[in-house]
Amino acid sequence: MAILITGGAGFIGNNLAASLLKRGESVVILDNFDDYYDVAIKRANIAALGDATAVVEGDIRNSALVDRIFQEHKITRVAHLAGLAGVRYSVENGPLYADVNTHGSVVMMDAARRYNVENFIQASTSSVYGQTDRVPFVEEDAPDQPLAPYPASKRSAELYGYSYNNLFGLNFTALRFFNVYGPNGRPDMMPLKVIEALVHDKPITLYDGELRRDWTYIDDLVNGVVAALERPNGYQIINMGYGSPVSLNDFIHTYETLIGKTAIRQSVPTPASEPRILYCNNSRARERLGFDPKVPLEEGLKRTWMWYKSCHNL
Ligand SMILES: NC(=O)c1ccc[n+]([C@@H]2O[C@H](COP(=O)([O-])OP(=O)(O)OC[C@H]3O[C@@H](n4cnc5c(N)ncnc54)[C@H](O)[C@@H]3O)[C@@H](O)[C@H]2O)c1
Repeated sequence: MAILITGGAGFIGNNLAASLLKRGESVVILDNFDDYYDVAIKRANIAALGDATAVVEGDIRNSALVDRIFQEHKITRVAHLAGLAGVRYSVENGPLYADVNTHGSVVMMDAARRYNVENFIQASTSSVYGQTDRVPFVEEDAPDQPLAPYPASKRSAELYGYSYNNLFGLNFTALRFFNVYGPNGRPDMMPLKVIEALVHDKPITLYDGELRRDWTYIDDLVNGVVAALERPNGYQIINMGYGSPVSLNDFIHTYETLIGKTAIRQSVPTPASEPRILYCNNSRARERLGFDPKVPLEEGLKRTWMWYKSCHNL
């Protein structure tokens, strides 16, 4: 009896694995250690988990391998977090995103239903909501105008989840994550890019500074994912975000104050892949999962900065 975490070498998956291990769960990780960002970070993430975790290096699209994992480890629950996570990178790589994020997710769902798993959690994204002024975002809205291959591939996986629940009774929860950040976060995301730019006095490439994002601290998010794993509930979609969007200008200003430097801003036009706002209504997560995010942005950025300082002896 074990929980399978796909993408467990990555940022969210690794934090989830650490949390589940602490609770005494058996954890199996499937990750292909792709080189979207520095693979050394993923190797270090896995090393930090210690020996208690079974780690399989392989691809979610390899259905024979996936079957073997379900059989050998008696998987009862799945947190499917593996995937290609960048919106910008998806713009020029549509076929790859369809293959990994949609096709790969369906391979996982199909194995899950054949091995009668109790619960399947799918990592989805706030960006499925596209360009909308209906804020905050609620799950009842039917998002059908994704702005880029990344949200299109994630929305497609949600739709397959519906089919698998309808046909096979697979308990399927899509969690729409909103801008997850924290110590050891993804190097391609704003929180670490801004720190790096400020520390090294390099320019920050900035879209419209009034774009607003809803930053969700990693520990809060992981608590939400753990709660979702524990509550199989048919087919459902649940927003998972802090619920308080902040402009990119204010975000950078918070770091400027923390680090004591002024950013060199280099404005570039906002690409068509970027929505004006991401804004989470998290009522459903609160009701169904007891989700209760506690870390406001200033505190979360402070913790991220402290982590960065200790890693770089600053
Ligand atoms: N971080 C966020 O703000 C955010 C927001 C919304 C949704 N998400 C979703 O949450 C999930 C985790 O995101 P993250 O920030 O931890 O990203 P991440 O890139 O750190 O982790 C994803 C992991 O998946 C692995 N992977 C990629 N393709 C694979 C494949 N074909 N087979 C096996 N493993 C593969 C990668 O090696 C990586 O370790 C992703 O599905 C992402 O789309 C993240």
